[in-house]
Amino acid sequence: MNSPHAEAIADCIRTRRTVKAYTGEAVPRAQLERWLDLACWAPSHRLTQPWRFAVLDQPAIVRLAEFLRGEPTIAAVPDPAKGAAKLAKLLDRLPALGAMIQVTWMRDANTAIDLEEHAAASAAIQNLLLAAHADGWAGFWSTTAALGQAKTLMWCGLDPTTQGFLGSVWLGRAAQVPPPPPRIALVDRVRWL
Ligand SMILES: Cc1cc2nc3c(=O)[nH]c(=O)nc-3n(C[C@H](O)[C@H](O)[C@H](O)COP(=O)(O)O)c2cc1C
Repeated sequence: MNSPHAEAIADCIRTRRTVKAYTGEAVPRAQLERWLDLACWAPSHRLTQPWRFAVLDQPAIVRLAEFLRGEPTIAAVPDPAKGAAKLAKLLDRLPALGAMIQVTWMRDANTAIDLEEHAAASAAIQNLLLAAHADGWAGFWSTTAALGQAKTLMWCGLDPTTQGFLGSVWLGRAAQVPPPPPRIALVDRVRWL
């Protein structure tokens, strides 16, 4: 029999969804600090804690959107044909977010270590998403090209020469929660030895 605590964690993991539509409610700074603190409890080899965060409140998101709109090279990535439409969709969605966190990891010249650092920072993002969900908020781990470009990272005060882009974590109050995308059966993903 699982403890209520274990069931609550299982429920949080299962019911967390990727949410792209938000109500416009701002996420209070104290909430963000709590989630960032929980993100930092992720494991990292040698305890390097390679994650770095740039937190954007709603006025900062508006300023970022202005920057993206005014920077002609942004829309051309990943390819000029699709980039402009993707950017327009992004600019449409950004004003409804309650906050956004740009996440990077500190790159390492050693490929094996670099992979571990990337993995550790990914675990931190998952902690953050679960923490937000547990508090009744929603999130979206986005890797949309416009938000991960070097110019965008620099605008956020991150250094693309030493940091890799892991994603933009969108946060806010869900306007609409999509149904759970089904997971592949364990039998197709696991070998028991
Ligand atoms: C590393 C990573 C990057 C992602 N980037 C995007 C993205 O750019 N656009 C998108 O629509 N979803 C993105 N997602 C979200 C996935 O589409 C989503 O997690 C998946 O469909 C499962 O849905 P769920 O999170 O509600 O369980 C990303 C997820 C991860 C882990």
